[in-house]
Amino acid sequence: MYVVLGASGNTGHVVASNLLARGKKVRAVGRNAAHLQPLTAKGAEAFIADVTDANSLAKAFQQAESVYVMIPPNTASTDPLGYANQVSDAIASAVQSAGTRNVVALSSIGAEHSSGTGPVVGLHNLEQKLNRIDSANVLYLRAGYFMENTLPQVNAIRQMGAVAGPLRSDLKLPMIATRDIGNVAADNLLHPVIRGKQTRELLGQSDLTYTDVSTIIGKAIGKPDLRYVQVPDEQFRSVLVQMGMSDQFARLLLEMTGALNSGTMRALEPRTTQNSTPTSFESFVAEVFVPAYQHQAAA
Ligand SMILES: NC(=O)c1ccc[n+]([C@@H]2O[C@H](COP(=O)([O-])OP(=O)(O)OC[C@H]3O[C@@H](n4cnc5c(N)ncnc54)[C@H](OP(=O)(O)O)[C@@H]3O)[C@@H](O)[C@H]2O)c1
Repeated sequence: MYVVLGASGNTGHVVASNLLARGKKVRAVGRNAAHLQPLTAKGAEAFIADVTDANSLAKAFQQAESVYVMIPPNTASTDPLGYANQVSDAIASAVQSAGTRNVVALSSIGAEHSSGTGPVVGLHNLEQKLNRIDSANVLYLRAGYFMENTLPQVNAIRQMGAVAGPLRSDLKLPMIATRDIGNVAADNLLHPVIRGKQTRELLGQSDLTYTDVSTIIGKAIGKPDLRYVQVPDEQFRSVLVQMGMSDQFARLLLEMTGALNSGTMRALEPRTTQNSTPTSFESFVAEVFVPAYQHQAAA
């Protein structure tokens, strides 16, 4: 039995689907049975639990060969790091009390820092808490910048005629499709080779700037002149709040983009075949971004 947290989410649903496709038993954890239905239709056991509830997670982790753990973002929280710490406390407590031997944990580049990296501080704290559990073998997948972060650009392009954000236009980011993270996680849940604790960076197929992102998106949506505009933090913060994010989460996100812009938060390893993954940004745009863009146009 493999247990997957965030099973209806970007990475979790790929982890769960991958394992089910290989004929494995999967316990899919989430708050909402309807969101887990596509996985239960493929044979998963749905387990309704809140990731802040240590007792429920300990029950979910019972009899697990390996578990996939992650901290779901809570963008409405007025204390987002407090929330992330509640989740990591619950996960660590559940791993300990269920006696879980093998854990694959979703983390991020920059998780070596204990402060100054916004939401990634919550992932640093998760790593530290799991490090203290001697009986558990843990693989930390320190992922690069999700390609899915570009999806809100659908609105920016419609409203401003440009791709916009707080990151420097010349900043190269290791951009990764979440499906690639899910597939690596599934492989490592099935074949846990780690003894003790290990980190592995996942850097996607290539490093891209937001200028590159705009060029690739522009080509795909028939706007070859599409440009990237760097927006001042204060302006971007008010856009995030208008989109429904708490002011506290928006400030945390801007702390992270500041750490990326300054180079404090970056990949530590040079790119290799080990830390690269197959999905190109061009494929992501064709398969995910363009349909989202067209869907919004139709709406
Ligand atoms: N964005 C980036 O560039 C980046 C880079 C590296 C690492 N990360 C990290 O990646 C993680 C996000 O991964 P993801 O995109 O796979 O997540 P996601 O798509 O946001 O999925 C999270 C899932 O968790 C479930 N969930 C939310 N709150 C919950 C709760 N309180 N209890 C139980 N389940 C809950 C949700 O499903 P239901 O609503 O159905 O419950 C949701 O489908 C974050 O920790 C982030 O810091 C992000």
